[in-house]
Amino acid sequence: MKVIVTGSFDESSRMVAQRITQIITQKPAAKLGLATGGSCEGIYAHLVELYKAGQLDFSQVRTVNLDEYVGMSPDNPLSYRKYMNSNLFDHVNIDKANTYVPGGMGDPEEEIKTFRSKVREGGWADFQLLGIGVSGHIGFNEARDTLQASAHLEELDESTIRANSRYFEDESQVPRRAMTMGMGDILSAEEIMLIASGPSKVEAIRGLIMDDTVTTHNPSTFLKLHRNATVVIDRELADWVGWKG
Ligand code: PGA
Repeated sequence: MKVIVTGSFDESSRMVAQRITQIITQKPAAKLGLATGGSCEGIYAHLVELYKAGQLDFSQVRTVNLDEYVGMSPDNPLSYRKYMNSNLFDHVNIDKANTYVPGGMGDPEEEIKTFRSKVREGGWADFQLLGIGVSGHIGFNEARDTLQASAHLEELDESTIRANSRYFEDESQVPRRAMTMGMGDILSAEEIMLIASGPSKVEAIRGLIMDDTVTTHNPSTFLKLHRNATVVIDRELADWVGWKG
């Protein structure tokens, strides 16, 4: 696993956007695993800029998103479908039929079946984008004694509910359950990039980059088992973590 330290969160976002641009340029029908959350907003803004500058063509790109809250309508402004449309899909020439964000409504068990087939359809992802949760979750794979390999339902941790409550009226409004790609789904991607910034991520990133331990209690540490995973953090976060590299 590689660690890249940039001068700022914006520089991190630009670097990841540039890598995604390279992948699409080399393989126009690339399959991308995408993520939501504050950490990825800058990346999508840069991708939209690059598209508008004529440097990117999404016409053949296929995408599968990491997760969605159970009970969340795709029309809800807080849904991850809305997030993807308003941050990226509505601004570029992607065919929305080639994009998949798990459906929050309907029977979750049925949706999980669809999710599992979308993750595998046409092969595993060429690239997987990740943020990281306060306790080290990737997707919504929460810190536990055991983790799951394939897409599944997850009860959200208190730390996740608290962190995500910033988007809702109050904590009680945050959905308690979500569907998420499993750890095996994420680790099957050809290449993975995780972006993190800010003081709330210090403990999770410390577990990820400061030693060689792999533990289900910080699911991000499984990235240490991947052949082509990169963690992109800014100098500020690197200093808080104590990373000298
Ligand atoms: P954030 O979320 O980017 O909004 O901090 C990341 C995550 O929970 O994985």
